[in-house]
Amino acid sequence: MTDSTKFWAVVPAAGVGKRMNADRPKQYLELADKAVIEHTLYRLLSAKVFEAVSVAISIEDPYWPELEVSKHPKVITAAGGKERADSVLSALKSIRALASDEDWVLVHDAARPCITATDIQFLIDSLRNDEVGGILALSSHDTLKDVDGKNILGTLDRSHIWRALTPQMFRYGSLKHALESAEGNPAITDEASALELQGLQPKIVEGRPDNIKITRPEDLALAQFYMEQQHD
Ligand code: C5P
Repeated sequence: MTDSTKFWAVVPAAGVGKRMNADRPKQYLELADKAVIEHTLYRLLSAKVFEAVSVAISIEDPYWPELEVSKHPKVITAAGGKERADSVLSALKSIRALASDEDWVLVHDAARPCITATDIQFLIDSLRNDEVGGILALSSHDTLKDVDGKNILGTLDRSHIWRALTPQMFRYGSLKHALESAEGNPAITDEASALELQGLQPKIVEGRPDNIKITRPEDLALAQFYMEQQHD
Protein backbone atom coordinates (compact mmCIF):
# COMPACT_ATOMS: atom_id res chain seq x y z
CA MET A 1 0.00 0.00 0.00
CA THR A 2 1.27 3.47 -0.86
CA ASP A 3 0.68 6.60 1.17
CA SER A 4 -1.57 7.90 -1.59
CA THR A 5 -4.13 5.15 -0.95
CA LYS A 6 -7.42 6.84 -0.12
CA PHE A 7 -10.48 5.78 1.86
CA TRP A 8 -14.06 6.13 0.62
CA ALA A 9 -17.35 5.32 2.32
CA VAL A 10 -20.36 3.84 0.52
CA VAL A 11 -23.76 3.80 2.23
CA PRO A 12 -26.60 1.75 0.71
CA ALA A 13 -29.78 3.58 1.77
CA ALA A 14 -32.32 2.59 -0.87
CA GLY A 15 -34.19 -0.11 1.05
CA VAL A 16 -37.79 0.13 2.18
CA GLY A 17 -37.47 -1.78 5.47
CA LYS A 18 -40.78 -3.69 5.40
CA ARG A 19 -40.20 -5.31 8.81
CA MET A 20 -40.58 -1.91 10.52
CA ASN A 21 -44.29 -1.53 9.53
CA ALA A 22 -43.69 2.24 9.41
CA ASP A 23 -44.97 5.03 7.15
CA ARG A 24 -41.49 5.64 5.73
CA PRO A 25 -38.25 3.71 5.07
CA LYS A 26 -36.46 2.88 8.32
CA GLN A 27 -33.47 5.14 7.59
CA TYR A 28 -35.81 8.14 7.91
CA LEU A 29 -37.41 7.20 11.23
CA GLU A 30 -36.67 9.57 14.09
CA LEU A 31 -34.01 8.61 16.58
CA ALA A 32 -32.85 11.12 19.22
CA ASP A 33 -34.06 14.19 17.24
CA LYS A 34 -32.56 13.14 13.92
CA ALA A 35 -33.33 10.68 11.14
CA VAL A 36 -31.48 7.36 11.51
CA ILE A 37 -29.44 8.05 8.35
CA GLU A 38 -28.31 11.47 9.65
CA HIS A 39 -26.70 9.80 12.68
CA THR A 40 -25.06 7.23 10.41
CA LEU A 41 -23.64 9.81 8.00
CA TYR A 42 -22.47 12.32 10.63
CA ARG A 43 -20.65 9.51 12.42
CA LEU A 44 -18.89 8.45 9.21
CA LEU A 45 -18.01 12.07 8.39
CA SER A 46 -16.69 12.76 11.88
CA ALA A 47 -14.27 9.82 11.59
CA LYS A 48 -12.31 12.19 9.28
CA VAL A 49 -10.81 9.41 7.16
CA PHE A 50 -13.02 9.48 4.06
CA GLU A 51 -12.48 11.50 0.89
CA ALA A 52 -16.24 11.34 0.34
CA VAL A 53 -19.31 9.32 1.32
CA SER A 54 -21.42 8.05 -1.60
CA VAL A 55 -25.01 7.36 -0.55
CA ALA A 56 -27.33 5.20 -2.71
CA ILE A 57 -30.86 6.60 -2.57
CA SER A 58 -34.04 5.37 -4.26
CA ILE A 59 -34.94 7.70 -7.15
CA GLU A 60 -38.47 8.03 -5.73
CA ASP A 61 -37.23 9.04 -2.28
CA PRO A 62 -38.80 12.38 -1.19
CA TYR A 63 -37.08 12.47 2.23
CA TRP A 64 -33.40 12.62 1.25
CA PRO A 65 -33.33 16.10 -0.40
CA GLU A 66 -34.96 17.54 2.75
CA LEU A 67 -32.01 16.57 4.95
CA GLU A 68 -29.17 19.05 5.49
CA VAL A 69 -26.61 16.24 5.29
CA SER A 70 -27.57 15.53 1.65
CA LYS A 71 -25.90 18.89 0.78
CA HIS A 72 -22.71 18.26 2.76
CA PRO A 73 -19.66 18.86 0.50
CA LYS A 74 -18.34 15.35 1.17
CA VAL A 75 -21.65 13.61 0.46
CA ILE A 76 -22.37 12.27 -3.06
CA THR A 77 -25.84 11.00 -4.02
CA ALA A 78 -26.07 7.91 -6.24
CA ALA A 79 -29.18 6.13 -7.58
CA GLY A 80 -30.25 3.09 -5.56
CA GLY A 81 -30.82 -0.30 -7.17
CA LYS A 82 -33.20 -3.25 -6.91
CA GLU A 83 -31.14 -5.16 -4.33
CA ARG A 84 -28.60 -3.96 -1.78
CA ALA A 85 -25.72 -5.14 -4.00
CA ASP A 86 -27.09 -3.08 -6.93
CA SER A 87 -27.19 0.00 -4.70
CA VAL A 88 -23.59 -0.54 -3.59
CA LEU A 89 -22.44 -1.00 -7.20
CA SER A 90 -24.21 2.21 -8.25
CA ALA A 91 -22.51 4.13 -5.42
CA LEU A 92 -19.13 2.71 -6.45
CA LYS A 93 -19.71 3.85 -10.04
CA SER A 94 -20.53 7.37 -8.79
CA ILE A 95 -16.92 7.75 -7.55
CA ARG A 96 -15.30 5.96 -10.52
CA ALA A 97 -13.56 9.12 -11.77
CA LEU A 98 -12.23 9.94 -8.28
CA ALA A 99 -11.14 6.61 -6.80
CA SER A 100 -8.29 4.37 -7.91
CA ASP A 101 -8.52 0.56 -7.93
CA GLU A 102 -6.16 0.30 -4.95
CA ASP A 103 -8.15 2.67 -2.73
CA TRP A 104 -10.12 1.21 0.17
CA VAL A 105 -13.92 1.39 0.28
CA LEU A 106 -15.84 0.93 3.53
CA VAL A 107 -19.46 -0.07 2.85
CA HIS A 108 -21.76 0.71 5.78
CA ASP A 109 -25.53 0.17 6.11
CA ALA A 110 -27.58 3.36 6.48
CA ALA A 111 -29.57 1.44 9.10
CA ARG A 112 -26.57 1.10 11.49
CA PRO A 113 -26.52 4.51 13.20
CA CYS A 114 -24.53 3.43 16.28
CA ILE A 115 -21.24 2.94 14.43
CA THR A 116 -18.36 4.44 16.39
CA ALA A 117 -15.08 6.07 15.34
CA THR A 118 -13.25 3.40 17.37
CA ASP A 119 -14.81 0.57 15.33
CA ILE A 120 -14.01 2.34 12.04
CA GLN A 121 -10.40 2.96 13.08
CA PHE A 122 -9.97 -0.58 14.41
CA LEU A 123 -11.25 -2.06 11.12
CA ILE A 124 -8.89 0.17 9.10
CA ASP A 125 -5.87 -0.51 11.32
CA SER A 126 -6.54 -4.28 11.23
CA LEU A 127 -6.87 -4.53 7.46
CA ARG A 128 -4.92 -1.73 5.77
CA ASN A 129 -1.98 -4.07 5.03
CA ASP A 130 -4.20 -7.02 4.05
CA GLU A 131 -4.38 -8.26 0.46
CA VAL A 132 -8.16 -8.79 0.37
CA GLY A 133 -9.85 -6.81 3.17
CA GLY A 134 -12.64 -7.92 5.46
CA ILE A 135 -15.56 -7.08 7.67
CA LEU A 136 -16.60 -6.24 11.21
CA ALA A 137 -18.27 -9.30 12.72
CA LEU A 138 -19.55 -10.70 16.01
CA SER A 139 -19.18 -14.20 17.38
CA SER A 140 -22.32 -16.02 18.41
CA HIS A 141 -22.99 -16.50 22.14
CA ASP A 142 -26.15 -18.51 21.65
CA THR A 143 -26.26 -22.20 20.74
CA LEU A 144 -27.26 -22.34 17.07
CA LYS A 145 -29.78 -24.80 15.61
CA ASP A 146 -30.19 -26.03 12.04
CA VAL A 147 -33.98 -26.04 11.56
CA ASP A 148 -36.42 -27.30 8.92
CA GLY A 149 -39.84 -25.75 9.58
CA LYS A 150 -40.17 -26.27 13.36
CA ASN A 151 -37.96 -29.36 13.51
CA ILE A 152 -34.39 -29.17 14.75
CA LEU A 153 -32.09 -31.10 12.42
CA GLY A 154 -28.92 -30.53 14.37
CA THR A 155 -26.71 -28.16 16.34
CA LEU A 156 -24.11 -26.05 14.57
CA ASP A 157 -20.56 -25.64 15.87
CA ARG A 158 -20.79 -22.00 16.94
CA SER A 159 -17.01 -21.58 17.08
CA HIS A 160 -17.20 -21.45 13.25
CA ILE A 161 -20.12 -19.02 13.05
CA TRP A 162 -19.82 -15.23 13.02
CA ARG A 163 -22.46 -12.58 12.34
CA ALA A 164 -21.50 -10.19 9.56
CA LEU A 165 -21.81 -6.48 10.40
CA THR A 166 -20.73 -3.38 8.53
CA PRO A 167 -18.51 -1.56 7.63
CA GLN A 168 -17.08 -4.06 5.16
CA MET A 169 -13.72 -2.91 3.76
CA PHE A 170 -12.41 -3.88 0.34
CA ARG A 171 -10.32 -2.37 -2.43
CA TYR A 172 -12.31 -0.32 -4.93
CA GLY A 173 -11.27 -2.36 -7.99
CA SER A 174 -11.77 -5.84 -6.57
CA LEU A 175 -15.08 -4.95 -4.90
CA LYS A 176 -16.49 -3.45 -8.10
CA HIS A 177 -15.33 -6.44 -10.13
CA ALA A 178 -16.79 -8.93 -7.60
CA LEU A 179 -20.19 -7.17 -7.51
CA GLU A 180 -20.34 -6.90 -11.32
CA SER A 181 -19.51 -10.60 -11.68
CA ALA A 182 -22.22 -11.55 -9.15
CA GLU A 183 -24.95 -9.26 -10.51
CA GLY A 184 -28.43 -10.79 -10.08
CA ASN A 185 -27.20 -13.54 -7.72
CA PRO A 186 -29.64 -13.57 -4.73
CA ALA A 187 -26.98 -15.15 -2.48
CA ILE A 188 -25.06 -11.84 -2.38
CA THR A 189 -26.43 -10.27 0.80
CA ASP A 190 -23.22 -8.46 1.74
CA GLU A 191 -19.99 -7.38 0.04
CA ALA A 192 -17.90 -10.19 1.54
CA SER A 193 -20.10 -12.84 -0.13
CA ALA A 194 -19.32 -11.34 -3.55
CA LEU A 195 -15.56 -11.55 -2.81
CA GLU A 196 -15.99 -15.12 -1.51
CA LEU A 197 -17.55 -16.10 -4.86
CA GLN A 198 -14.29 -14.96 -6.46
CA GLY A 199 -12.47 -17.57 -4.36
CA LEU A 200 -11.08 -14.96 -1.96
CA GLN A 201 -11.10 -15.18 1.84
CA PRO A 202 -11.99 -11.88 3.50
CA LYS A 203 -10.95 -11.49 7.16
CA ILE A 204 -13.18 -10.96 10.14
CA VAL A 205 -12.42 -8.20 12.65
CA GLU A 206 -14.33 -8.37 15.93
CA GLY A 207 -16.71 -5.41 16.16
CA ARG A 208 -18.69 -3.87 19.00
CA PRO A 209 -22.09 -5.38 19.86
CA ASP A 210 -23.70 -1.92 19.98
CA ASN A 211 -23.32 -1.58 16.17
CA ILE A 212 -26.87 -2.83 15.65
CA LYS A 213 -28.94 -2.72 12.47
CA ILE A 214 -32.37 -1.11 12.79
CA THR A 215 -34.66 -3.89 11.57
CA ARG A 216 -37.68 -4.11 13.90
CA PRO A 217 -39.59 -1.30 15.71
CA GLU A 218 -38.01 -2.09 19.12
CA ASP A 219 -34.51 -1.56 17.66
CA LEU A 220 -35.03 2.23 17.71
CA ALA A 221 -35.25 2.33 21.52
CA LEU A 222 -32.23 0.03 21.78
CA ALA A 223 -30.21 2.25 19.40
CA GLN A 224 -31.13 5.33 21.47
CA PHE A 225 -29.99 3.57 24.65
CA TYR A 226 -26.66 2.61 23.07
CA MET A 227 -26.10 6.15 21.78
CA GLU A 228 -26.63 7.57 25.26
CA GLN A 229 -24.00 5.15 26.62
CA GLN A 230 -21.40 5.78 23.91
CA HIS A 231 -18.63 8.25 24.62
CA ASP A 232 -16.29 7.42 21.71
O1 C5P B 1 -32.95 -4.62 4.37
P1 C5P B 1 -31.60 -4.60 5.04
O2 C5P B 1 -31.68 -4.18 6.46
O3 C5P B 1 -30.77 -5.81 4.85
O4 C5P B 1 -30.80 -3.42 4.29
C1 C5P B 1 -29.46 -3.10 4.61
C2 C5P B 1 -29.08 -1.77 3.98
O5 C5P B 1 -29.14 -1.87 2.55
C3 C5P B 1 -30.06 -0.65 4.37
O6 C5P B 1 -29.28 0.51 4.71
C4 C5P B 1 -30.90 -0.46 3.12
O7 C5P B 1 -31.38 0.87 2.95
C5 C5P B 1 -29.92 -0.82 2.01
N1 C5P B 1 -30.57 -1.28 0.75
C6 C5P B 1 -30.31 -0.59 -0.45
N2 C5P B 1 -30.91 -0.97 -1.62
C7 C5P B 1 -31.79 -1.99 -1.64
C8 C5P B 1 -32.07 -2.72 -0.44
C9 C5P B 1 -31.44 -2.33 0.76
O8 C5P B 1 -29.52 0.36 -0.45
N3 C5P B 1 -32.38 -2.31 -2.79
